[in-house]
Amino acid sequence: MSRKIMVATVKPFAPVAVDGIRKIVEGAGYELKVLEKYPDQQAFISAVPDVEALIIRSDKVTREVIENAPNLKIIVRAGAGYDNVDLEAASEKGIVVMNTPGQNSNAVAELVFGLMVFMVRRGYSGKAGTELKGKTLGLQAYGNVGRNVARVAHGFGMDVLAYDPFVSEDSIRTDGVEPVDSVEALYDRCDFVSLHIPAIKSTIKSINFALMSRMKEGAMVVNTARKEVIDEDGLKKMLEKRTDFRYVSDIAPDCKDELLSTYPDQVYFTAKKMGAQTLEANVNAALAAANQILGFFEKGDTAFQVNK
Ligand code: 3PG
Repeated sequence: MSRKIMVATVKPFAPVAVDGIRKIVEGAGYELKVLEKYPDQQAFISAVPDVEALIIRSDKVTREVIENAPNLKIIVRAGAGYDNVDLEAASEKGIVVMNTPGQNSNAVAELVFGLMVFMVRRGYSGKAGTELKGKTLGLQAYGNVGRNVARVAHGFGMDVLAYDPFVSEDSIRTDGVEPVDSVEALYDRCDFVSLHIPAIKSTIKSINFALMSRMKEGAMVVNTARKEVIDEDGLKKMLEKRTDFRYVSDIAPDCKDELLSTYPDQVYFTAKKMGAQTLEANVNAALAAANQILGFFEKGDTAFQVNK
């Protein structure tokens, strides 16, 4: 019996990306199962008992999913952040978890500028706005997305600073970006701060009033990372006290409706998380995921494992 690989995506890949996965998987003699736009978590749980490999996006691989998948050997999150996978539960069962770093980062970076231009041009309302040229952009984390944002920001004529304690200052400088040595310094000096941090214990609710209120007049925070990193009470307080401050995000906060009705000129949220939702990003991440699964089954390759 051939191995069963399942694509489980509430928010599906572009069809051409799924076709690409199929070609790789079936070409290697495995079977592909596709579960898209499933109605609820139970539908996901019910579909996993016979699968040996999973390709997911932001889909929640909880302990319950893992316990219902006795044959599961590998989970590949086609994307960067893997906060949606219960790593502890996976590791307990010896399941390898991987991501596909860098494959969708240009898409997210381009959206950062889509959001910033939309905000500084006042929602394309016809009212006079401002420009990005000559302004200072701070990158909170300098990984794959941060690097792409820096590249595009230079094209806009922005000065770029970055805070990332895990990346060497020299490699940040090589890109024409100024490293800063504290997160506070980033907020003190920048007109815009773009978030590229994962949602982990140390970052959850870390973007709070104390930090945001350090920013200059007319400042903006752009969040294409995770909603959990924002302290929503702090954000409300900031918008109330600083009518010059703006917040724009690809991942709407829980208090979205309240913010939109109270501060309509200061906030904007996309209808759905769409940073990585481009044809190119879907194809890149989907094919990488399929190839990583093959590499694992055929050669024991664990290069992108995140639960080592
Ligand atoms: C990621 O972590 O790769 C991005 O947040 C994209 O997530 P998505 O695949 O759910 O759109």
